[in-house]
Amino acid sequence: MTRLIAEQVLMIPEKIKEFDRELIEKTGCSLKELASEASGIGSAPPKPAAHPVAVIPVTAGQGTIKGFSEALHAIAAYLGFPAFITAAPDVSGLVEAYQSDATIALMADDHLYAAINLKTRRATGNDEATAKGFTTALQKMAGGLKGKAVLVIGLGPLGTAAAQALLQEGADLILYDLLREKEAALLKSCATAEQQRITTGLTLEQALARTHLIFDASPGEAFIPAAMLPTGAIISAPGLPLGLDPTAAQKFTDHLIHEPLQIGTAVMLFQALI
Ligand SMILES: NC(=O)c1ccc[n+]([C@@H]2O[C@H](COP(=O)([O-])OP(=O)(O)OC[C@H]3O[C@@H](n4cnc5c(N)ncnc54)[C@H](O)[C@@H]3O)[C@@H](O)[C@H]2O)c1
Repeated sequence: MTRLIAEQVLMIPEKIKEFDRELIEKTGCSLKELASEASGIGSAPPKPAAHPVAVIPVTAGQGTIKGFSEALHAIAAYLGFPAFITAAPDVSGLVEAYQSDATIALMADDHLYAAINLKTRRATGNDEATAKGFTTALQKMAGGLKGKAVLVIGLGPLGTAAAQALLQEGADLILYDLLREKEAALLKSCATAEQQRITTGLTLEQALARTHLIFDASPGEAFIPAAMLPTGAIISAPGLPLGLDPTAAQKFTDHLIHEPLQIGTAVMLFQALI
């Protein structure tokens, strides 16, 4: 897991409404609708208002990130959860969450960002939730993914979870990682029927010539120039920082979803309620 930095999260509370407006413009779905669908919660989601969320700051490892707890609080509150940041961090914060009768605890250290339902004991992780949320966003922007080829760039935990979510949506996959052995390893881990829907071993240029649908789950920065992107490219890009260079990001802005925390957190919260 790559650690977030303060600059990536500080503006989330102030800009969450604007973010949601843009998400609706691009996908036709609000954050709440997207997260509800991506979580698989079904047509009758539990009411967030009945489920207090405790955001617990964690000081272990490299410590808290400035603005991180406030960003999680803002996202949960925006979705309608009664949310609060515990006064104490770490174990004391967890005790506080239980004593306050919170339904969900949200917390992250340097290795894992998780939502834990304190009543049902269901735990959800950020990689799977982010993969599902950004896959749903790509599906909405593309008008469906069944039988369409999607290029997945970066095959760490997030890209691997995205590949699985995309296969479930019926997409064919082109896998690309700087470490080429990761493409082969992911291919090998898939069932035989799925392997037939996966292409590996292409250069980035070759891959981008074969599809306009892109899932960027890499931490590479500005390595995709506008000239390399096909006409009509649609990009779901949770990878931080953005893989598109500034010109490409500007050119494809209407068909680009890229943000550091909102979609993954929203999906985690709904998944925790299932
Ligand atoms: N937006 C969100 O909500 C969200 C959530 C989780 C993770 N992330 C971000 O997603 C990215 C991936 O997370 P992860 O935990 O899987 O990371 P990771 O570092 O474990 O894996 C990244 C993979 O990308 C590959 N890679 C790096 N640069 C590349 C490039 N230029 N082209 C192709 N492949 C490249 C690496 O070889 C590696 O296999 C990180 O930047 C992380 O911060 C964002």
